[in-house]
Amino acid sequence: MKQDGKWVFMVANFKCNKTWAETEAYLQQFRGFREEGRVMNVLCLPYPYLIKAAEMIGGMHLPVKLGAQDISPYPFGRYTGAVAAGMLMGMVDYAIVGHSERRRYFKETDQEVAQKVAQLVEVGMTPIVCLDSAYLESQLAAIEAEYLLKCIFVYEPSKNISTDGQFRPDDPDHAAKEAGRIQEKVGGEVRVLYGGSVTEETLGSFLQKSQLTGVLVGEASRNVGRWKHLLVQAAHG
Ligand code: PGA
Repeated sequence: MKQDGKWVFMVANFKCNKTWAETEAYLQQFRGFREEGRVMNVLCLPYPYLIKAAEMIGGMHLPVKLGAQDISPYPFGRYTGAVAAGMLMGMVDYAIVGHSERRRYFKETDQEVAQKVAQLVEVGMTPIVCLDSAYLESQLAAIEAEYLLKCIFVYEPSKNISTDGQFRPDDPDHAAKEAGRIQEKVGGEVRVLYGGSVTEETLGSFLQKSQLTGVLVGEASRNVGRWKHLLVQAAHG
C-alpha cells in the first residue's frame, strides 16, 4: 500500500496474447485470492474474452476488475468492425487508450485518442491514457479539459517496453519527473501510473515515488503466479 493510504492501481495488459482456455485458467487462479491491501487488480483482456470473463468474475466473486485495450473513437453506428464504448458498459470499467503500440502499428493520432477518451467518459468508463514524453503535451492538449480529470494516465516510454524477455525499465526518478509533468499540465489531482518493463525487482522502486500510484504491466502480468506476486508486493509495498 502507498504510505499515504491511496489505492494502488495494478493494470495488466495482456495485449494480443492467450487463448480463451488459457485466460479462463488464469482467472480461476483468483478464486479466494486476497492480497490484503488497497490494490485495484485490473485485467485488460482482448475484446472476445470480456463477456465470459465478466460472467466468471461475477459468478465466482473474483477480486478482479476488467478493462479493454482499446475502444472505437465513434459511438454506435455505421462503423464496420468497431467496438463502441456503449457495448462494454456494465461489463468493463476501464479501457486503455493511446498505447504506443496502437500509435505505431495502427497509426493512431492524438485526435483519435482524444475522441476515444470522450466516448469512454460519456458512458461512465475510465480511460487509461498512455503517454510518452514526445507527445505528452500534444496528447493532453487534444483531450477536452472536462474529460482530463476523469482519466487515469500512464507514463509509458515506448523504448522501455519489454521485448522478448528483456526488461529495461525507465529510471524511477525520471518516470516520477514525467508523472509530475503530467499532473502539472492537467492542473488537478489525477492518478499517474508507470508502464514499461516492470517486474518483481523494480515494482517497489516505482511505487515508492509519490507521483506514481500504480503500474501498467505487460509481459510480467501474463504469468498468473508472477502477477499475484506483484499484487501482493504492491499491497505490502
Ligand atoms: P511490458 O509492457 O510490461 O511488457 O514492458 C507494458 C505495456 O506495453 O503495456
